[in-house]
Amino acid sequence: MRIDARQVSWASGTTKIVDEVSLSAASGEFLGIIGPNGSGKTTLISMLAGLRRPKGGTVELDGADIASIARRDLAARVALVEQQAETSERLTARQAVELGRTPHLGFFDPWSGADDRIVDEALEAVDMAAFGSRSWHTLSGGERQRLHIARALVQQPQLLILDEPTNHLDIGHQIGLLRLVRRLQLTVVAALHDLNHAALFCDRIAVMKHGRLVAIGAPDEVLTPDLIRDVFEVDARVETIDGQMSIRFAVEERVTERPGTRPDADQAVGCLVLRR
Ligand SMILES: Nc1ncnc2c1ncn2[C@@H]1O[C@H](COP(=O)(O)OP(=O)(O)O)[C@@H](O)[C@H]1O
Ligand SMILES: [Mg+2]
Repeated sequence: MRIDARQVSWASGTTKIVDEVSLSAASGEFLGIIGPNGSGKTTLISMLAGLRRPKGGTVELDGADIASIARRDLAARVALVEQQAETSERLTARQAVELGRTPHLGFFDPWSGADDRIVDEALEAVDMAAFGSRSWHTLSGGERQRLHIARALVQQPQLLILDEPTNHLDIGHQIGLLRLVRRLQLTVVAALHDLNHAALFCDRIAVMKHGRLVAIGAPDEVLTPDLIRDVFEVDARVETIDGQMSIRFAVEERVTERPGTRPDADQAVGCLVLRR
């Protein structure tokens, strides 16, 4: 499924939170969205998923305005994993995942063995098969996050929208999740906070700053030291190691020379503040 956002905007009062953003993801493409905290990623994603109606512009799925698609049809085609997803504490892990099948069930399509198999496969895919009978309230943040992903998978969407999906996950499960998502070969739009993950897994990356789209393109076109400095206010080196893009961030604050003065080496070192 293809998604096109055309000049979508959202505002709170007179404050522009998403400002005329246009972007597309082609069928099967993995589009990453990066940007600092508060740059409008979550607000943009909620409009892309049809959860929030844009105050300006349109979102189209395969050319149809998302606002014209019935909720149930939308849920059968688009899955969203929110940044702060919540689930009733009274469910078991498996029941929480089963909820994802809802849009595919109906009077003539009751729950069947096929649904059980889809849930089994999703639990397996996120490495949670052993947790099916556990109560939701006993699960860790990372385990809950993996179940939210599994719930999205059982929806069998054509478009998967993820808001910082690797939050709470250890590095093994972060990489595992991104590999899994890429393997699915669906259209994926994901806000990611780790620029190295964005570089390694995305076909293209969209960059948000103060509610605006400031760049979009292939990782090696977009993730330049200049852009990273401009958008994230941090110095970075971008290298290719063993054919893999790698971004290293400067730990030390830059020493800015005042005009007309030239601190000698000792003074310069004295200015360095370690930020850890
Ligand atoms: N409903 C709202 N009312 C007012 N301000 C909001 C609302 N939703 C988000 N914001 C503000 O809009 C900005 C962008 O938020 P958000 O989309 O969550 O950014 P991000 O996901 O990039 O961190 C933030 O400053 C946030 O506080
Ligand atoms: Mg967010």
